[in-house]
Amino acid sequence: MTIKISKYANTIPPSGIRVFFDLVMGMKDVISLGVGEPDFVTPWNIRETGIYALENGYTSYTSNKGLVELRQDISKHLKQKYGLRYDYENEILVTVGVSEALDLALRATVDPGDEVLVPEPYYVSYGPNVILCGGKPVFIKTSPDRGFKITAKDIERHCTKKTRAIILNYPNNPTGVSYSKSELKSLAKVIIKHDLIVMSDEIYCDLTYDYAHTSIATLPGMRERTIYLNGFSKAYAMTGWRIGYVSAPENIIYAMTKIHQYTIMCVPIISQMAAREALKNGDRSVREMKREYKRRREYVVSALNEIGLTCHKPEGAFYAFPSIKNTGLSSMEFSKRLLSQEKVAVVPGTAFGPIGEGYIRISYASSLDNIKEAISRMKRFLERNKKR
Ligand SMILES: Cc1ncc(COP(=O)(O)O)c(C=O)c1O
Repeated sequence: MTIKISKYANTIPPSGIRVFFDLVMGMKDVISLGVGEPDFVTPWNIRETGIYALENGYTSYTSNKGLVELRQDISKHLKQKYGLRYDYENEILVTVGVSEALDLALRATVDPGDEVLVPEPYYVSYGPNVILCGGKPVFIKTSPDRGFKITAKDIERHCTKKTRAIILNYPNNPTGVSYSKSELKSLAKVIIKHDLIVMSDEIYCDLTYDYAHTSIATLPGMRERTIYLNGFSKAYAMTGWRIGYVSAPENIIYAMTKIHQYTIMCVPIISQMAAREALKNGDRSVREMKREYKRRREYVVSALNEIGLTCHKPEGAFYAFPSIKNTGLSSMEFSKRLLSQEKVAVVPGTAFGPIGEGYIRISYASSLDNIKEAISRMKRFLERNKKR
C-alpha cells in the first residue's frame, strides 16, 4: 500500500541546495564552497558554557518562550544594538533557529489564500514555508543591473487585495546584497501604505561590511508591523546548536508561542545557556570572524572578476553570486561539470529561484587557502570549457 502524501507536502520541492549536495556526498577531495555555514567552530567560551550546563545537570525543559534570563539578555541586546525596546515577557520568543521562527511567523499570521511577497533570488525555505501554511508566495524578481534589490515600486506593483506580508532578508542569502537606511525608508513607506506585515530575516546583520546595519523595525511606523527574526547560527558560528529568536508585538508572539508550545515545546536548555554566553561575551569573536570574512570577500570578488566571472561586491553575509552567463552553460550544468572536472562544489543559482539562472553561489565561509585553490581550479575549468 502506498500512503497518500498531503497536497502541501506534495507541492513543495526538495531544497535545491540539498539536491545538489547529494551529488557531492561520497566524492573525495572536493573543495566545497557550497554550504552556508561558518567554517569556524563555536568560540570556546560559548562551548564551555554548554559543557558546564551539562556537567551541572541542566537537562530539563525550560519555559516555552525560553529562559527568562535569555529573553532578558535578548531584550537588552536589541535595546543596545538598535534602541528597540521589546518586553522580554511578551514580545520575545526563543526558537529553533530562524528556520522555526519564520515558520511560526507565517503560520501565526497567514491564512489560506493570503499572498506573501518574496524577493527573488530568495533563501530556499521561504516559498515552501508560505505554501505549507496555505499561503501563496508571490515572487518579486530583482535584477543584477539594479544590484539585486527590490524597490518600493516593485512592492507596489505586486500588491493585491490579498497581500498580507513581505519576507525581507538582508544581508541576503544568496546575493550578499543589503539595504541602506534610506533604501529601507522608501520600502517602509509602501509597506505601511499597503498595511503589510514584514518578516525581517536579519540573520546576517552582524556580517555587514561597509556600513552599519539598520533594522527595518527601527523605522517610524514599522515596529508594530515587523516580525524581527535573528539567531546565533551565523555570527556566532552556532549552526548546530539550533537556536534563534523572534521579537514582535505581543499578539503575534502570543500566537507564535501557542504553535511553538504544541510542536517544539522549548529550545534545548544547553543551547539557551550557551546563547546567553554568546550575547554576554561573544562580541570579540564575532568581530574576529567578521574581519576574516571581509578579507576573503575582497579576495573572492577580485579573483572571480579576474578569471572572467563578473561579480558584484556583496555588502554582507558570506556569499558571492557571480554570473556564469558568458560560459553559455546553465547554472546546473556549470556546477555539475565543475564538480566532476575539478572537484569544486558551488550551488547553482537556480536553487534560489529561476532568476538565479546564469549565476552560481559561492560561499566564502571556507579557509582562504581552500578558496585560492578553488579559484585556480575554476580558472582551469573556464579555459577548458571556453565557448567556441
Ligand atoms: C537567510 C537565512 N535565513 C535563515 C537561515 C536558517 O538559520 P537557522 O540556522 O537560524 O535556522 C539561513 C541559513 O542558511 C539563512 O541563510
